[in-house]
Amino acid sequence: MTTTLHAASALFTASTGAEPTGLWSAPGRVNLIGEHTDYNDGFVLPFAIPHRTVAAVGPRDDGRIRVASTFADAPVEVALDELDDLFPTPTGDAPRVPEWAAYPLGVAWALRRAGVTGHGVDIAITSDVPVGAGLSSSAAIEGATASALNDLWAAGLDRTALARIGRTAENEAVGAPTGIMDQMASMLGEPDAAIFLDCRSLEAEPVPVGVVEAGLAILVIDTRVAHAHSTGGYRERRASCELGARTLGVASLRDVSVDDLDRARELLDDVTFRRVRHVVTENQRVLDTVRTLRAQGARGIGDLLVASHASMRDDFEISVPELDTAVDAALAAGAIGARMTGGGFGGAAIALIERDAEAAVTDAVRAAFSASVFADPEVFTVTPSAGARRDA
Ligand code: GLA
Repeated sequence: MTTTLHAASALFTASTGAEPTGLWSAPGRVNLIGEHTDYNDGFVLPFAIPHRTVAAVGPRDDGRIRVASTFADAPVEVALDELDDLFPTPTGDAPRVPEWAAYPLGVAWALRRAGVTGHGVDIAITSDVPVGAGLSSSAAIEGATASALNDLWAAGLDRTALARIGRTAENEAVGAPTGIMDQMASMLGEPDAAIFLDCRSLEAEPVPVGVVEAGLAILVIDTRVAHAHSTGGYRERRASCELGARTLGVASLRDVSVDDLDRARELLDDVTFRRVRHVVTENQRVLDTVRTLRAQGARGIGDLLVASHASMRDDFEISVPELDTAVDAALAAGAIGARMTGGGFGGAAIALIERDAEAAVTDAVRAAFSASVFADPEVFTVTPSAGARRDA
């Protein structure tokens, strides 16, 4: 983390010749359970991870915004007044600026559309959140930028409002039709807790995970199969959910319970039914996970994680062979539970393991990848960590 802070500060100075006014950071996230439920007004249980994105920011007196980052050689610069010419990005099109720049510029645009603006700014962004791993590197950029501009432009928005700004940037500037889970997790994360979020009311409650006390650890297995949510499968799954809700006559799938599934099977075609069944049962699994964590602690949630993965693999069909291999190998090596995390079609899986089994599970997963001739995965542990903040 200190390295990322220094790197952001150094990048700022290299590109402007000045010291930044301040450093703001926001984390990536892992979702413990509750996948593709957020845009269905449902429940999710993500937590912020120690990996963070840092924005070093300082004022300019010419009404322009310039973003530099370690993602690209050249900075991108526009007048704040011209942001409306760039965004929103028409559905299905690529942003009119390089994609990485659409995140911070989209945040500035979304703030202005919400009536918040101020002087021009220079922004330098560095990150140690793995990109394309399903760990919300994009929400981390949005959270760091939104937190910085909120302070520098004296907007006084609360964390939930900043998460909404981040989602607007993601949906309308980048063009990815995602829900709000990642931005909420990045803004609201707390050490040692997952964030139980009702995506309809946006009420959020920290739920202690207690992994360390229980002698457990959470392993992230990044398959290094890259994915993008602005295209293809994610959009299709979202459309299926909307079709299911419309056919069932409800505002969103949040309003369908497990008991309603028999009737849903009669009304929906097979594919739409299975998409709906995933969302409905996943919502129930989030509620069951929260209850189990409170009653028994993390050791009790293994079966729920495994059932969640099976539902994503078989009903929602968003897993890939690498993710299934990661989950199966971790379970065979003694993991208490495992599942893919995030939007799917690549990215990472998580495994809940005994702390002293880290080496054994990691080796087993690597061996299984090697036997399947998959690229070597990145494997590391994470602990629930703090959300967005000003660091300096
Ligand atoms: C991505 C999106 C989130 C959420 C997950 C799936 O991470 O950004 O909004 O829909 O996929 O749970």
